[in-house]
Amino acid sequence: MSGRAHREHRTATVRTSPNPTRHGPSRALRALSVAGAATALAFGGLAGPSAAPAAAATPYPNLTPTPPMGWNNWSYYGCDISEETVLANARALVSSGLAAKGYDTVTTDDCWMTHTRAADGNLVPDPTRFPHGMAYVGEQLHAMGLKFGIYEDAGTSTCGGYPGSYGHIKQDADLFAKWKVDYLKLDGCNVPVPAGQSADDAYHKLYGDMSQALLDTGRPIVYSVSAPAYFEGEKDWHHVISWSAEVGNLWREGADVAMESSSARGKWSSIKYNYTYNVPLADLQSPGRWNDPDFLLAGQSRLTGDEIRSQMSLWSVMAAPLISSTDLTKASPDALSVLGNKDVIAVDQDAKGLQGRIVRHGDGYDVLSKPLANGDRAVALFNSSDEARTITTTAAEAGLPDGNSYLLKDLWSKETTRTTGTIAADVPAHATVLYRVHAGSAPRVQPATAITWTRTGGEGTTSTWKVALADHGPTGLTGARLKLGAPDGWNLSDSDVSLGNVRPGGSATATVTAKGPDAKPGTTVTPLTATARYRAGGAGEGSVTGQASVVTEVPYPSLEAAFNNVGVTNDAAPPAEGNYTTGNFDGGGDSYSAQALAAAGVTPGAELAKDGVTWTFPAAKPGTPDNVALAGQSITLTGSGSKLWFLGAEAGFVSGQVKVTYTDGTTSTGSLGFPNWCCTAGTEYGATTVATSGHRNTPNGPANFGIGYKLFGNSVPLTAGKTIRTVTLPDADAIHVFAVTVQ
Ligand code: GLA
Repeated sequence: MSGRAHREHRTATVRTSPNPTRHGPSRALRALSVAGAATALAFGGLAGPSAAPAAAATPYPNLTPTPPMGWNNWSYYGCDISEETVLANARALVSSGLAAKGYDTVTTDDCWMTHTRAADGNLVPDPTRFPHGMAYVGEQLHAMGLKFGIYEDAGTSTCGGYPGSYGHIKQDADLFAKWKVDYLKLDGCNVPVPAGQSADDAYHKLYGDMSQALLDTGRPIVYSVSAPAYFEGEKDWHHVISWSAEVGNLWREGADVAMESSSARGKWSSIKYNYTYNVPLADLQSPGRWNDPDFLLAGQSRLTGDEIRSQMSLWSVMAAPLISSTDLTKASPDALSVLGNKDVIAVDQDAKGLQGRIVRHGDGYDVLSKPLANGDRAVALFNSSDEARTITTTAAEAGLPDGNSYLLKDLWSKETTRTTGTIAADVPAHATVLYRVHAGSAPRVQPATAITWTRTGGEGTTSTWKVALADHGPTGLTGARLKLGAPDGWNLSDSDVSLGNVRPGGSATATVTAKGPDAKPGTTVTPLTATARYRAGGAGEGSVTGQASVVTEVPYPSLEAAFNNVGVTNDAAPPAEGNYTTGNFDGGGDSYSAQALAAAGVTPGAELAKDGVTWTFPAAKPGTPDNVALAGQSITLTGSGSKLWFLGAEAGFVSGQVKVTYTDGTTSTGSLGFPNWCCTAGTEYGATTVATSGHRNTPNGPANFGIGYKLFGNSVPLTAGKTIRTVTLPDADAIHVFAVTVQ
């Protein structure tokens, strides 16, 4: 079975998971059924573990007093790895200076081995990918002063379909020790659950056995336990984390972070998703035992500077392992400087070893605070929303001792300011402001100030705002001026306003109207900026900047008008490997085959009918579009009837709300979901199968994994007697809609 086919199978099972997520790994294949286990035994001749109750080597030695740091190939390269890739990235870790800053463990993830073990039962490195074997990779890494990490799986096979450690735990541990491995990531796909045992028990036993086997080697091997990721959101989840903290040093506890091939939107939502499941788990962490929300994506394409700084800030405040997964040989200086920010790394690696917690949560933002060994606090103001906003907390709320003076060091801008207690900043969309807060004062430090934009009126691209400059420091401001800016084509009622003097604790306000050109279809976010300059007594000249977002939403004239992502490619010209912009239905580079669709009667402009409903397949050439970019957006549509029928499919397992707006201004909503394009029963969400094509295209050409690639029909109800004006599609980029029709 190829790795990919195997992964599809995993994906297929996600739908049964209580926690389906389009981001990640297919957690639900955590337990092979007993029948599956029996099959594995029959075919693989595996000696299963004894039926003894879970025996864990507890507690596993504390080999990582601070969160592990390093590099792993997975989210950037997937299975496309080799000795050269791994060593080139290792050299880049050293030459970029990241290794010296702590990124010292280089882990080769899945797919490093061959599909069968040797006659003696040992794992065999893939001779093409790793021609000199794995011990050689370790030697090279050690010669560079780095540590050697390797991947295996506790089940019968890895998530990519290579031999797992099940039945070979001691043998594999010994082999890894012989190869001088320093770090083991033990994944949890394909774990058999013996009859009468819970999945929790089965995982505990295997991970405990590996813990003991690693100890028995006598070699200190950092042990990363993936078991909790297979229980994310389930009732046993916290229990699995609690024993993971006994048998190992760190644990993956949720979905995989997005792969390099994901869209910008997919990557950002995956960072937010992993943050969201990781942040409430602070109670399950202790010094030397770490929650692992997966890799840092800095350096990967399509993420903004604010987004990668956010991830680095949040991971550090959560005391998460800092494991980069990108091509470091090509990473931009900006990406390297984000990964290499020493002040932020120091927050992560702080000797107190505690995960930060949310101290304030609001609509679209969180404030987190992490206690640090010297009594300081790291305070993160995280704007998870798509619009700039001012986020405010206080030193008391962040857990600092009582006092009337605190120093705020902004760990990205490196500026230090002084507050009497309020901690506030205008934070751009997706950005995080990270302060190290110290109770105390220092001479000639600028007062902490913040700008707040408050919208007071306007419509469309015309908006009126109050822009306030607040002084949170102990020193007043004199001669304050506000400079306002907007993109080309925009007009502001004022661009330079005098605010005069601001007393400590006070604020001064200007009013401004911004007017932009007519908005384009879709959601457009336009930033307006304000920079205040002032004098603050002996501290001299100071300044602060803040942003507002003007958001306009205009319906597209039609569904087709919004297409921009490719769902169908031609067999004869599959997209070049890595060139996902021309053929990417599933986010992993795979797409429908134009030829296979044509064989099923699905051609550009074709009328497709099912159960009395007819759709027109988009008249677009292979290599053009479905409407993923339209997720959450509105289209113009006219007609009236009882149902609105969609033709589509999913590269995930989510449903979402469709909103229909009628000409009289009223609205109705309905839930829309499609089955996954392959691999499922095809009846999920009440959908019907409209067409089945025989194969898909992958970056390496056409492929058939023994399943059909389908198009589905599904509907939402309409309000009888009303005429549709616009339809807002579900805000889920896994849902692809090819056509809409009113019945
Ligand atoms: C799972 C893990 C990933 C990676 C892959 C390899 O999805 O969560 O981190 O190791 O398996 O197949």
